[in-house]
Amino acid sequence: MADVPTHEPTLAPLYDVIQRRRDVRAEFTGAPIPDEALKRIFAAAHAAPSVGLTQPWDFVVVRDKELRTEFQAHVAQEREVFAASLNSETAQTFSRIKIEGILESTMGLVVTYDPSRGSPAVLGRHAIADAGLFSVCLAIQNFWLAATAENLGVGWVSFYREPFLQQLLDIPDRIRPVAWLCVGPVSQLHTVPDLERHGWRHRRPVEEAMHYDKFGRQLQH
Ligand SMILES: Cc1cc2nc3c(=O)[nH]c(=O)nc-3n(C[C@H](O)[C@H](O)[C@H](O)COP(=O)(O)O)c2cc1C
Repeated sequence: MADVPTHEPTLAPLYDVIQRRRDVRAEFTGAPIPDEALKRIFAAAHAAPSVGLTQPWDFVVVRDKELRTEFQAHVAQEREVFAASLNSETAQTFSRIKIEGILESTMGLVVTYDPSRGSPAVLGRHAIADAGLFSVCLAIQNFWLAATAENLGVGWVSFYREPFLQQLLDIPDRIRPVAWLCVGPVSQLHTVPDLERHGWRHRRPVEEAMHYDKFGRQLQH
């Protein structure tokens, strides 16, 4: 038997899932996540490519209400720190934007990066130290897309200081928390990102991101 998780035939095709994925804050219902779905999603995350096959990620599932409440209070403080850096008009826009669903989601998931895994001879990292971190982000993206395919929402929270989260969850000093993800069933996934709906920023067309042969060289029409 191949060591591949079986998939429900109803799961959506990849391109649909990629377009449907959203960062979720306000739409979590708090309902339980089916165990089988969770297993599939973690298997998808763990199937990500990684520099030197180091698989430098770990996944800390945070269900405890007290831990989540402590984290939420810290994030609220960091929100204030950011808000204080804004001019009054931007601060006004920011005040209408929700940045996390830590308590409303079904669970928190902290994804960490261990730079020591497989070292010192990490194949492919000698010149680019960040390659390890990139690998963790790919596991997160796999997680996010698989969760979307399972009709679950994910919201990435980065309004925190790493030492705070390390201390809260007993994460050793050498291991970096890369993301706190809010995860769970949702009432809906919006078709337009929250930041766009609130007039914070707009997505740019893919053509603007394209360069040909030299950076800055666009196709001539
Ligand atoms: C590295 C990273 C950190 C993020 N941190 C936050 C955050 O702290 N709070 C938040 O509300 N959204 C956060 N986001 C979500 C982005 O705001 C979101 O991806 C973007 O607005 C586009 O929306 P979409 O993901 O729904 O397409 C983060 C996303 C990434 C990739």
